[in-house]
Amino acid sequence: MAILDVKKAGDPVLKEICQPVERVDKKIRQLLDDMAETMYAKDGVGLAAPQVGESLRVVVMDCQDDHGLLELVNPVITHREGSAIDTEGCLSVPDIYGEVERAERVKVEFLNRRGKKQRLSATGLLARCIQHELDHLDGQLFIDIAKSLHRGKQE
Ligand code: NI
Repeated sequence: MAILDVKKAGDPVLKEICQPVERVDKKIRQLLDDMAETMYAKDGVGLAAPQVGESLRVVVMDCQDDHGLLELVNPVITHREGSAIDTEGCLSVPDIYGEVERAERVKVEFLNRRGKKQRLSATGLLARCIQHELDHLDGQLFIDIAKSLHRGKQE
């Protein structure tokens, strides 16, 4: 495992449309492991592959709930419901926070680290995290869609 360098806003890799993973192999599992280690080392709740310079549809998350570590390969949101506004931050945009409107509930389909298709329903912080991380796979940062931005966690 290795802690990877996290790319910051302005790096072109963060604006790319990421490629789907063709085969969930050892290399992808290594990427998942390194991304999880990087996320935990930097106290993040989620990390997308372009944030570590890999333009692939791979995400890790841990919202410190019952799901624990989630590893999503080729994730697709299949259902969105409701809306909620809350504060977000991002390891690629240090010290900046913003209010972002997201769906309140989502369903997502993805491949796990064994290449097996999985489905997950999420609400609250996990639903928000899924939407934030999946946006990274399409080159979108939360600062692109935030209703307001501020420095530090408090307004
Ligand atoms: Ni982010």
